[in-house]
Amino acid sequence: MKYVIGIDLGTSAVKVLLVNQNGDVVQEASKSYPLIQEKSGYSEQNPEEWVDKTTEALSEIVHGFDGNVEDIEGISFSGQMHGLVLLNENKEVLRPAILWNDTRTSKQCQDIYEMVGKEKLLQITKNPALEGFTLPKILWVKENEPDVFAQASVFLLPKDYLRYRLTGELHSEYSDAAGTLLLNVAEKSWSEEICRLVDIPFELCPPLVESIDCVGGITSDFAAITGLSETTKVFAGGADNACGAVGSGILSEGKTLCSVGTSGVILSYESNKDLDFEGKVHYFNHSEENAFYTMGVTLAAGYSLSWFKDVFAPGESFEDFVDGMDTVPIGSNGLMFTPYLVGERTPHADSTIRASFIGADASHTRKDFVRAVIEGITFSLNESIEIFRENGKQIDTIISIGGGAKNKEWLQIQSDLFNAEIVKLKSEQGPGMGAAILAAYGSGWHQSLQECADQFLIPAETYTPIEENVIAYKKLFKIYKTIYNQTREINEELKEFRK
Ligand code: XUL
Repeated sequence: MKYVIGIDLGTSAVKVLLVNQNGDVVQEASKSYPLIQEKSGYSEQNPEEWVDKTTEALSEIVHGFDGNVEDIEGISFSGQMHGLVLLNENKEVLRPAILWNDTRTSKQCQDIYEMVGKEKLLQITKNPALEGFTLPKILWVKENEPDVFAQASVFLLPKDYLRYRLTGELHSEYSDAAGTLLLNVAEKSWSEEICRLVDIPFELCPPLVESIDCVGGITSDFAAITGLSETTKVFAGGADNACGAVGSGILSEGKTLCSVGTSGVILSYESNKDLDFEGKVHYFNHSEENAFYTMGVTLAAGYSLSWFKDVFAPGESFEDFVDGMDTVPIGSNGLMFTPYLVGERTPHADSTIRASFIGADASHTRKDFVRAVIEGITFSLNESIEIFRENGKQIDTIISIGGGAKNKEWLQIQSDLFNAEIVKLKSEQGPGMGAAILAAYGSGWHQSLQECADQFLIPAETYTPIEENVIAYKKLFKIYKTIYNQTREINEELKEFRK
C-alpha cells in the first residue's frame, strides 16, 4: 500500500493526515498554536511555531506508522491564506507573520485605491483592497516599520514558508498568490504594474508554480528529525479554501461548498476567468490548473463559537457545549447574533463593525445563546449565497465541511436556512484531504484531480430543507440583515474605547 500526507496549516492548529491509496485517513495528528493579539484588530503568529508544531505532528505520525516510510510517496499542503511572512536575504523571518484576520490596514487599503485606482485593481487582481489581503500588510510594514521593510528580500505566504523549511526551496503557487492583490489572476503572473504603482520592489515576489507541481524533496535534516524519507516528493499545495474545494470535490461548474473553519466560506467553482462580480465576492485561482472559484467570507465563523465557548465555558468539550441546542426553537427564542467579532468581509467589507447579541431576555439560557451564535454564523454565510443567487448561480446542493458538518442540528439549520440540500462527506477534513489529493495526483496515482476525488470522497449524509423551517428562516434572515446598518455607527463610536 502507498500513502500520501496532507498538511493543513490552519489558524488555530496544524492538522496532518496520512491517507492511503483508497483515500482512507489511516492516521491523523493535530497540534494547536495561539494567536498573538496585541491590540484590537491585530492578529499575528510566529512562523517558527508552525514549523515546530508541524514537525511534532509529522514525527508522531511517522512513529505510529508501521509500514515502510518510503511508501509515503508525496506530501502537500493547504494553508491559511493571505498571511505575510517577510524574509531577509539570509531567508530569516524578519517579524511575526501578520494574518488574514488582522484588520490594522484600513489606511493602506485606501492608499492602494489611490495609487492603483479601483478599476485597475479589480481588472488585474479581480478583487477589492481588503484589510486581510497581503499587499496592504506589506505596505503597513513599509510605512510603520521601515527598518524591517528595508531588510526584506522576499515575502511568503504561511504554508509556502512551511514548505520552504521542509525543502529549502522558495515558491508561491497561484491559488494562494491570488489572495495577495499582487497577482494578475487571469494571466497567472505577478503584476509588475501593481508593484510599480504601490512602489514596492518586484523582487519581493517569489517564483510561481502550480499547486500540483513537485517542488523538490525533504531536506536530510528534516527527514532526520521527523523520520520521513528523503525520497518523499513535496508538491506545492494550495490555499486552504482551494484545497477545501479539492477535498470536497468542488471541481466542476455548479458545485458549491460551505466550509466552517476559523473563518467560514461559501465557495463556488468557476471555469471562466472573465466574469465580473464587481469585487462583491472574492475571485481566486483554483488549485486545479486553469480553473477559478468565487467565494464569500465570514471572518469569524468557527471562531465565533470557539470564542463564546472559551469565554463562557472554558474547559468544556465542544459536544457538551452544543448539547441541547436542538431543543431550542428556530430563532433562538428571539435572540439574534451577528458574528462580527473581528470585523466582516462579505457582504460588508468593514473592519470596524463588531458583533452583537440582540433581543436578550431574562428567560434565555446558555442553550439559546449557543443556538443564536450558530444561527448568526449561518445567516452570515447565507448573505454570500444570496449574492451568488442574485448573480444567476444556481445553488441547490451544497457540500458542507469543517465545524458546521460536525453537528447534525447545524447541518439541518444550514439546509433550512440556505434552502438547499446539504451533503456531508464521510471525511469532512476538506483542506487536509485536498492537500492529500494534490499529493496523490502529483504522485501519479490518478489521471486527474476529479478522478482522485471521485475515489477518495464518499457522500455520507444528506439533509433536505423542511418547508416550514425555510419560511421561518426567511423571515428571520430579513431581520438579521437589518442589524449591520443599525449597529454600524454605534461601533464607529465605540472604536476609541477598544484597547
Ligand atoms: C479567505 C480567508 C480565510 C483564510 C482562513 O480569503 O481569509 O478563509 O484563508 O484560513
